[in-house]
Amino acid sequence: MIKLAVLVSGGGTNLQALMDALESGSVTNAEISVVISNNKNAYALKRAAEHGIDAISISPKDYTDRVLFEEAFLNCLNEYSPDLVVLAGFLVVLWKDLIRRYSGRIINIHPSLIPSFCGKGYYGLKVHEAALARGVKVTGATVHFVDEGTDTGPIILQKAVPVQQGDSPESLQKRVMEQAEWVILPKAVDLIANNKVSVTDGMVTITE
Ligand code: GAR
Repeated sequence: MIKLAVLVSGGGTNLQALMDALESGSVTNAEISVVISNNKNAYALKRAAEHGIDAISISPKDYTDRVLFEEAFLNCLNEYSPDLVVLAGFLVVLWKDLIRRYSGRIINIHPSLIPSFCGKGYYGLKVHEAALARGVKVTGATVHFVDEGTDTGPIILQKAVPVQQGDSPESLQKRVMEQAEWVILPKAVDLIANNKVSVTDGMVTITE
């Protein structure tokens, strides 16, 4: 059984999808030990607490200096010694100490088909605004390992979603979440928890 730490910043629908998948048994061999947010008002924290999961907020606003925040956050994470860190709508750019400590054991869900609409400044609704502004006909979501770049780590799973005429960023975001994110994030956790994911030279191989 692997231990998961899920990092969140907002609504927590991806966290919900993961908790539901664990409860229904479509994800096996894993349990969520802790949910940590940089935002004390994140609804995701409520979702976790309702499931009896430790829900902790560590906000940069509570520290005089960024380094102290990063230290406190990492110390808290370390206390749970997670096997896998899942970024489920965690909108803080990860810092070196955390990435190195959990190297190869951090995954992120991004709401586009990487390498489109990713990297610095592309998060949340902005990703869908950019996709609509470019006029793409297909978008989607990606689960990838986190390395020291922004959205540059090895890709684990992707799922495409059609853009429809008249879409708003909000309607597109909703479709991408429902059809792609909530499917591939739990799936990726299940594959990793069951030792079906390996990485060679930055490329992921999945053995089903
Ligand atoms: C999701 O769409 C996720 O892909 C995105 O934030 C949203 C969080 O929603 N993440 C990023 O943009 C990361 N670059 P949620 O809190 O309801 O899961």
